[in-house]
Amino acid sequence: MSKKATISSIKKSKGVKPLVMITAYDALFAKLFQESVDMILVGDSLNMSFAGKSDTISATLDQMIYHTNAVCAGAPESFVVCDMPFGTYSTKEKALENAIKVFQSSQADCVKIEGGADKAEIIKHLTDNGIAVCGHIGLLPQSVRSEGGYKIKGKNEEDKRSLIADAKAVEAAGAFCMVIEGTKADVAKVVAEAVSIPVIGIGAGKDVDGQVLVFSDMLGLFEAFTPKFVKKYLDGAALVKGAVATYAKEVTARTFPAEEHTY
Ligand code: KIV
Repeated sequence: MSKKATISSIKKSKGVKPLVMITAYDALFAKLFQESVDMILVGDSLNMSFAGKSDTISATLDQMIYHTNAVCAGAPESFVVCDMPFGTYSTKEKALENAIKVFQSSQADCVKIEGGADKAEIIKHLTDNGIAVCGHIGLLPQSVRSEGGYKIKGKNEEDKRSLIADAKAVEAAGAFCMVIEGTKADVAKVVAEAVSIPVIGIGAGKDVDGQVLVFSDMLGLFEAFTPKFVKKYLDGAALVKGAVATYAKEVTARTFPAEEHTY
């Protein structure tokens, strides 16, 4: 990407070109990603792939701010989205206080909130107070315990109607874009067509306004499980394990360090 994306360029991309979003949690990877993507998401998925927990629920605001600062430092030319973790936006007052904390302690360009019509009042309170919001509808990872697992959305007419209503409510509340996760592709297409802001899919098929993937999934670094929607663009785990095993072998055999690595 030649120029940092803005709220306005992101909105204008709808119907023109698909948006490319990827997660990052640190400066090292963010720097590697920035030239190829429009937006970097500091997702609370870091609680799983970075912190080793079984879900995103225990991610904290301080954790999100720490990682957002690292990403912003590594990719100063990227549009950075900071996920609001579970429990930090349960009321509109709490949401604003916590989103202000994110904006004042990092260079995040916006926050992301999980929820549809039920979160519209909260999203409106944030956008009315100068906080840019990316919505997140469909499968909501922060609801994994209350829903008893990760459940694909859009499987029936009622679900389809409620997803369209969610997308419209999120747009009307002032969000400038939204993520749609784990949703049947034909339904995600209709949802994207129902609003005038970009709808970025993850596990939602190709007929949306962009795609987002968790970097550790698409680089093949996260081995615990691979959702159906993930394409592994690299066999990262095998490459890393192979390199470290070679290093260990060379240290044991005293062939590393060689002459050229020695002062
Ligand atoms: O936390 C995250 O990485 C996300 C993506 C799954 C969109 O919210």
